[in-house]
Amino acid sequence: MASKIQAGPMRVLVTGGSGMVGKSIEHVVQQEGGKLDGEEWIFLSSKDADLVDVGQTRAVFEKYRPTHVIHLAAKVGGIYLHMRQNLQFLRDNIKINDNVLQTAHEMGVTKVVSCLSSCIFPDKTTYPIDETMIHNGPPHDSNFGYSHAKRMIDVQNRAYFKQYGHCYTAVIPTNVVGPYDNFSIENAHVVSALISKTYKAKKEGTPMTVCGSGAARRQFTYSLDLGRLIVWVLREYKEIDPIILSVGEEEEMSIKDAMDIIAEALDFKGTIHYDTTLSDGQIKKPASIAKLRRYLPDFSFTPAKEAIKKTCNWFESNYDIARL
Ligand SMILES: NC(=O)c1ccc[n+]([C@@H]2O[C@H](COP(=O)([O-])OP(=O)(O)OC[C@H]3O[C@@H](n4cnc5c(N)ncnc54)[C@H](OP(=O)(O)O)[C@@H]3O)[C@@H](O)[C@H]2O)c1
Repeated sequence: MASKIQAGPMRVLVTGGSGMVGKSIEHVVQQEGGKLDGEEWIFLSSKDADLVDVGQTRAVFEKYRPTHVIHLAAKVGGIYLHMRQNLQFLRDNIKINDNVLQTAHEMGVTKVVSCLSSCIFPDKTTYPIDETMIHNGPPHDSNFGYSHAKRMIDVQNRAYFKQYGHCYTAVIPTNVVGPYDNFSIENAHVVSALISKTYKAKKEGTPMTVCGSGAARRQFTYSLDLGRLIVWVLREYKEIDPIILSVGEEEEMSIKDAMDIIAEALDFKGTIHYDTTLSDGQIKKPASIAKLRRYLPDFSFTPAKEAIKKTCNWFESNYDIARL
């Protein structure tokens, strides 16, 4: 996706730069030639600043004086961690988001692109969901803390525009898979947790147990595709209203389908059990990418099956450095 835009002097601060999505943007910018003349990119981790703390947030903005911000930092996790810690997800993310947006405002940042998630949409809704429906009812109970904190980013973006005319916007990815994800069996998102668990079951010669029935359906987007699209949003998307960045609805698959792809990719030949006593979360939540297609009709996504296979391969080859 070649950009025709010429960059002015642009200093881009990426919060959450050490996470899966941050690493994908770093790859796009540093290794795919995505960085334009005049641009400087800075990728932060929590070691540079704990963004829950307003003093540390201001200090890191003072240090780098960004003109643009991609805000990815968040307390994130898989469904079972959310269910145990809804309050912590709510409070930490409210603080992180308010600190980043308000500091960006105080320091004259021209544009902020923040990251929402398709799991913040209303639980009871019509399908497919789209960008206009974020606030149309309560989110699924399993992750209500994280969801309400994320929804407030959209509210704040509109308020910064109304009061100050700022172009602070947000993107909405669906489920993301790719290198550098969190592969913790207990706390990771579904595919990465299953990859890690299958790898371990193969090594130990034990059966594989999947939490839930396997019937829940999701859209899996490859992190490198998301990285390319977020860079496009930073440069060319002018709306305050958010935009869904995802593979299309036709790529939606069940957790069981994803498990079969993982078993094949990791050559796992053991038995696979589905523990139906555990929650499936929202059973489905297809998200429409009609808006993205109006802007970028030809953007080519990595098919979800290939994205999961690539993630399995990365995990096997990088087991020593993977987050477990
Ligand atoms: N992964 C998905 O499927 C998915 C789907 C939809 C939306 N999203 C959104 O995409 C964004 C990035 O997610 P990800 O999957 O890349 O997550 P990730 O791999 O877990 O990375 C999280 C990032 O946030 C940083 N961070 C966490 N707490 C922080 C704090 N208190 N102060 C400063 N930095 C902090 C982490 O820094 P350290 O490395 O130092 O801990 C890391 O760089 C998030 O906003 C998430 O909500 C993700």
